[in-house]
Amino acid sequence: MNIVCIGSGYVGSVTGAAFSALGYKTTVIDINESKVALLNSGQSPIYEPGLTELIRAYIGKTLFATTSYEAVKSADVIFIGVGTPSRPDGSVDLSYIKAAAGSIGKSLSRDRFTVIVNKSTVPVGTADLVSSIIEKESGLRAEHQFTVISNPEFLREGYALEDVFFPDRIIIGSVHHAAKDRMRQLYNSIVYREGYEAAAKYFYFKHNPEAPQAKYFETDTKSSEMIKYAANAFLAVKISYINEVARLCESLGANVPDVARGMGMDSRIGEKFLEVSSGWSGSCFPKDTAEFLHTSQQYGSELTLVKTAMQSNERMHAYVVEKIQHRLKSLHGKSICILGLTFKPNTDDARKTQASYIIARLIELGAHVKVHDPQGMEMFRSLNSSLSVEFCKSPQEAAEETDMVVLLTHWADYQRLDWTKVAKRMKHPFLFDTRNVLEHHEMERAGFQYEGLGLRK
Ligand code: NAD
Ligand code: UGA
Repeated sequence: MNIVCIGSGYVGSVTGAAFSALGYKTTVIDINESKVALLNSGQSPIYEPGLTELIRAYIGKTLFATTSYEAVKSADVIFIGVGTPSRPDGSVDLSYIKAAAGSIGKSLSRDRFTVIVNKSTVPVGTADLVSSIIEKESGLRAEHQFTVISNPEFLREGYALEDVFFPDRIIIGSVHHAAKDRMRQLYNSIVYREGYEAAAKYFYFKHNPEAPQAKYFETDTKSSEMIKYAANAFLAVKISYINEVARLCESLGANVPDVARGMGMDSRIGEKFLEVSSGWSGSCFPKDTAEFLHTSQQYGSELTLVKTAMQSNERMHAYVVEKIQHRLKSLHGKSICILGLTFKPNTDDARKTQASYIIARLIELGAHVKVHDPQGMEMFRSLNSSLSVEFCKSPQEAAEETDMVVLLTHWADYQRLDWTKVAKRMKHPFLFDTRNVLEHHEMERAGFQYEGLGLRK
């Protein structure tokens, strides 16, 4: 089977590398020449643990990268993994999807049946839209010479390889028999956890031989498209809920990590996604909740829980700033160190990160802000050029002579810091840990006045 992945971003490059490692001839197509050049030189266009090693092992063997759509002619399965950003009103901008569909249509072969797969997160009805664009451009008949199906991607940045090789579930949205057969064949080794050996030596995580088989679920195309948004919005609601509970814990003297633990012991609730933070952010939850809400409003069926979770999330960002203000009183002339600019650890992705909101607000209130992130400084700088912050080479340098350190992203590097040395370099050793990952008493022994979110005093 010949595979094509359109787009070499967080989804496309991982998908392409994974299928090439499973033995399929895989061509990644991107219009961005520098990303293609990086792939061809054995480097990853994004920071994702293990990905560079995987690309280096398969590039030129089963993995190919190009700006040309030529490989579409001999493709059996084409994954579309281009971006679907938000417009200001929350609706999704499908221009990249439409352009990719147009280019596929111009190159599609008459001589073979091709399955075109929407892996990008797209609104219900997008498979039909892509299908009609391809029909128009190619002159071929949908469902006879090609079909467009939905197969949403559920990978998390920072764990992308683990999630692609060992997913919880694979959702296929199609009622086309030949397409369903082809997808079953393609995913067989992933479902039965057989394919990992090809790539296991490049993994940074240990394979758990007891890991349950991936669930494989076939449904109609629209339900599959809906599952992706419904799942992401549900997770966002869950985090907003525990963040609200954390705020209440502070008022009542309860301890949110214990509350979350006790709640999560109920298998109906589950222990995951109950970690407190300054709010969820990143390239997916904000845009996907906005699109889901926007669609629901268009159809007169407003998703009020999603709307409230979005408002609650903004409130959480603001609450973090209020706590900083409360501790430092006036922020005028104060110097604050922000550790972590990415929306979560183990990624360089600084799109729609909570750090940009929090930092902008601190600057507005008169603070000088020094920042550090192990991987995200370049993207943060390019996306937030209007923010006047001091970028520092190390967390120690960022903390130098500051009035407070605020840990926004819980990179392992920060958890391993020699905090005693950090405290000594500061003007006032206040430490605000928005992820509750540092040990309270240990930080006090290191010389800090420590504060977390939702912690018992
Ligand atoms: P991205 O912005 O990192 O990558 C998109 C890539 O597509 C870019 O490299 C861009 O140059 C390329 N591209 C744009 N138009 C093209 C065209 N016409 N032909 C070829 N290449 C083209 O995006 P991403 O983060 O990988 O997300 C892609 C989609 O997957 C989005 O819908 C997103 O919601 C969804 N998704 C993302 C993640 C994630 O963790 N980032 C996880 C699950 C789903
Ligand atoms: C999320 C989903 O988890 C993936 O399944 C999905 O494929 C992806 O979005 C997508 O559609 O793009 P991702 O955005 O990479 O993945 O990261 P998450 O681990 O879900 O975290 C999202 C945000 O929530 C981060 O800001 C994170 O710090 C925050 N979070 C997460 C919490 O504040 N608490 C938690 O308990 C979990």
